[in-house]
Amino acid sequence: MGKVYYVSKNVGLGMLILGIGALATIIALSIAYDKERAKNRGKPDGATDSTNTPTPSTTPFVAKDPWDHYRLPNSLVPVFYNVTLWPRLEPNPDGMFMFTGHSAVVFRCVKETDLIIIHSNKLNLITFDGHHAKLSGLGEAVVPIIQKSWFVEKTEFLVIQLQSRLTVGESYVLYTRFLGELADDLEGFYRSEYMEDGVKKVIATSQMQATYARKTFPCFDEPAMKAVFNVTIIHTRDTVALSNGREIETINTVIDGVPVSVTTFEPTERMSTYLLAFIVSNFVNIQSTQHNNLLIRIWARKKAIDDKQGDYALNVTGAILQFYERYYNATYPLSKSDQIALPDFNAGAMENWGLITYRETALLYDPFISSTGNKERVATVISHELAHMWFGNLVTLQWWNDLWLNEGFASYVEYLGADYAEPTWNIKNQIILYDMYKAFAVDALASSHPLSRREDEVNDPAQISEMFNTISYSKGASVLRMLSEFLTEPVFAKGLSSYLNTFAFNNTVYTDLWDHFQQAVENTQGTYIPDTIENIMNHWTLQMGFPVVTIDTRTGSISQKHFLLDPDSVVDRPSQFNYTWFVPIKWMKAGVEQQQYWLLQKTEINSQMRVSGDEWVLANTNVSGYFRVNYDHDNWNRLLSLLSTNHKALSVINRAQIIDDTFNLARAKMINTTLALRSTKYLSKEIDYIPWESALRNLGYYILMFDRTEVYGALQAYLKKQIQPLFEYFKTITNNWTKIPTGHNDQYNQINAIGTACSMGVVGCRELMKSWYRQWMENPHHNPIHPNLKGTVYCHAIAIGGVEEWDFAWKMFKNATLASEASRLRSAMACAKAPWLLNRYLEYTLDPTKIRKQDATSTIQYVSQNVVGMPLAWNFVRARWDYIFQQYGKGSFSFASLISGVTQRFSTEFELQELKKFKEDNLHVGFGSATLALEQAIEKTKANIKWVTENKAHVLKWFTEST
Ligand SMILES: *[C@@H]1O[C@H](CO)[C@@H](O)[C@H](O)[C@H]1NC(C)=O
Ligand SMILES: *[C@@H]1O[C@H](CO)[C@@H](O)[C@H](O)[C@H]1NC(C)=O
Ligand SMILES: *[C@@H]1O[C@H](CO)[C@@H](O)[C@H](O)[C@H]1NC(C)=O
Ligand SMILES: *[C@@H]1O[C@H](CO)[C@@H](O)[C@H](O)[C@H]1NC(C)=O
Repeated sequence: MGKVYYVSKNVGLGMLILGIGALATIIALSIAYDKERAKNRGKPDGATDSTNTPTPSTTPFVAKDPWDHYRLPNSLVPVFYNVTLWPRLEPNPDGMFMFTGHSAVVFRCVKETDLIIIHSNKLNLITFDGHHAKLSGLGEAVVPIIQKSWFVEKTEFLVIQLQSRLTVGESYVLYTRFLGELADDLEGFYRSEYMEDGVKKVIATSQMQATYARKTFPCFDEPAMKAVFNVTIIHTRDTVALSNGREIETINTVIDGVPVSVTTFEPTERMSTYLLAFIVSNFVNIQSTQHNNLLIRIWARKKAIDDKQGDYALNVTGAILQFYERYYNATYPLSKSDQIALPDFNAGAMENWGLITYRETALLYDPFISSTGNKERVATVISHELAHMWFGNLVTLQWWNDLWLNEGFASYVEYLGADYAEPTWNIKNQIILYDMYKAFAVDALASSHPLSRREDEVNDPAQISEMFNTISYSKGASVLRMLSEFLTEPVFAKGLSSYLNTFAFNNTVYTDLWDHFQQAVENTQGTYIPDTIENIMNHWTLQMGFPVVTIDTRTGSISQKHFLLDPDSVVDRPSQFNYTWFVPIKWMKAGVEQQQYWLLQKTEINSQMRVSGDEWVLANTNVSGYFRVNYDHDNWNRLLSLLSTNHKALSVINRAQIIDDTFNLARAKMINTTLALRSTKYLSKEIDYIPWESALRNLGYYILMFDRTEVYGALQAYLKKQIQPLFEYFKTITNNWTKIPTGHNDQYNQINAIGTACSMGVVGCRELMKSWYRQWMENPHHNPIHPNLKGTVYCHAIAIGGVEEWDFAWKMFKNATLASEASRLRSAMACAKAPWLLNRYLEYTLDPTKIRKQDATSTIQYVSQNVVGMPLAWNFVRARWDYIFQQYGKGSFSFASLISGVTQRFSTEFELQELKKFKEDNLHVGFGSATLALEQAIEKTKANIKWVTENKAHVLKWFTEST
């Protein structure tokens, strides 16, 4: 599945500096977002309760019958399906939207059985002679008579008991006719609605991953049950139908007295059910056949296509496909590539084979309205999904326990594909910020978990759904990148290509991939690895966490230890490797690349790493390995002095990593906080984005902890001094702010420069924001602010402005036709400094005619990110808990982050008492989905109190002396 994690990517740090606890929030959001995906709007559809289901067993549940197990028995394998679907885009007399359909599946019997067990969920099946299906044979086999059939709700099966056994080696046909609800639940075959020119439009679309194909038609719904699908869709004549295969023909006819079109599609390749897609809409497309005559189409609402919002996607798709064909050494396996932007879609995107579905923001790009971040997102999400067309779709992992390999892989190579399409962006470096830091953050906690799960640990849909998490995507990407780095890219690509060619149209387990890498190593002269790929990788996939490698350059000793952000946390999960790893260390000494070193033991001596004089050692160059590095104090000093005299001697990534490592090592109490702070001293000379972004993310925590204390004055003075040159730099290269920098990363860093400069009070910054915003106020129909900068400019203009600026933003918010613009304004209005404006805004959140219900809790959170707004939001939440809980407490994911957001600055004993009292006072009301968040808020407040107590004095002293 496409990245659900893009939620907060590239928001621009201008806002962070005003106090968004960005990283923690991003992680909490993405995890919660996943959970939200699993929600089920449960509605009656009459399918599951219609027949003689055997009495459900009482607790404790013991699975005794084959249909009580979540996994299909291994007696039948599907070969071919004919599926016909007819979605109704008008409600029936009961106001419900329905679809009907019929399906014939040809399956082969490979083990003798008198049971047919097939997935079917929430479908109403038509009966034939009292049974839910018809069975016939292909060829000579005697066809058993159906004795009875029933549904098992828990395991989502249709079970057919036969009077006699099926014959091994023979093929049979199971025919079903069914009726289902085309609900707006974003699962299976579902309904999506949007407005066009004031008219409501309905489309039928689908999301099968992970277990929703069974909600569309009865099928063997496991990834290894691959088959060929012959699809037919019946639809109204003013709509167009799409599916995985290319359409063969559309004929107009009349069915049941209704004039319709019937579109048939070429049979698919052999594929998994979770990759199927069926869409009926009145969308239009743009297309090209420039890449090897392959038909590439981008589909969207007519207005979006007319506005050329699909052009960029069409431009990059051909290039990215070309990249993968070379990289994988395998041609694109299908006869067409469709990509479609849906107004209503849960994940970021979904890699259905040949018909990829996207959120609009992940596929559409408007050169006049979208920011650079939007553009990067389009390129990387497309690249991620296209990577799956081979890895995941052509060759599919057997079961969901190996999901990390599928998603981690696509999350890694998406940077390679996007880099090929946009070679000037330097986008490969971005994996550090968007995946490695994110993985490090969760994987440094004692509550983390290993990448790999055993097959028998992942069974029911909830367990499958849990696999879609940060560890799978981002740690998976980081670990595979490390593998590619230590094998070298040509060897990695060679292994990959032989894996894909060997297992095309089939299924694998992760060790199959390791085997092919192993063969590639053995067939390539000069590739050294200290053990088999499997043994090396097991250290990274079977145990959680990652090491911090400590190098003592005085002795040449090099050692490793499980890195834990909280040194007092207790790890109770055992590890077969006792939390040691096989660590590939790329390193350099005094600027000279050294031979890769493999750390295999807990402690080793490498005399090469002993240095003298002012020689320095830097390990994990380009952060090619998934670990952190610590050094003896002298080496740290030499690295920091190198940064301040000649920072360009180190790559951008390593500059960023020195900052990120020191801040995290300080949090883990392995080095002093002042050493971390010292890593930011050279920033007055830094113009690159990645080091700045690293520093601002890490300093974000200091700002949250201290922006209400005396430390803040000193911190502000220091950061003002550090950011000033960057602000001047951008002023110069943009010709006094009259143009946008050409460099991709410069565009991001310009946002950092402006946002930080304004927050820290750099002279001229706020006036600039104010004047741009004024120009817009004077001519509301012509917004002169560049899309990249809008969020930052709005926020600062409102922060320094008064009621007039605020009311203008409100008016523009109410009139905004573009969702992204509305959302920028909604967030910026929380930047006001006048308490009465903020309180008024908080009141608006409870009035759905002012702030939409879905946006209420996030708006309260925005207010709490503002240092002035925080106490107001906290009072508001406490005073209205009863009501807020009634309205939003049931399951909404933003509800949990309301608590974590409002309390993120809490760092005093007094606040801890308030929090505890809040909990006691509202026990009778409850906390619903925020229950865990409340407990975590109490824990985090305690940790913050401790950190502030231990660090406040040093930090104040350091900032004061460094200004
Ligand atoms: C699938 O549909 C085609 C065309 O209607 C038909 O010829 C074929 O027999 C069907 N296959 C099965 C297994 O029902
Ligand atoms: C697939 O369906 C079409 C249309 O119903 C039919 O003409 C064709 O024979 C089917 N293909 C197979 C292999 O059954
Ligand atoms: C797409 O490519 C064409 C031709 O290279 C170019 O003129 C156009 O500006 C591109 N469009 C976008 C949105 O990048
Ligand atoms: C690419 O594939 C072809 C045939 O499938 C094979 O002969 C060739 O060695 C492959 N090239 C690489 C670099 O793997």
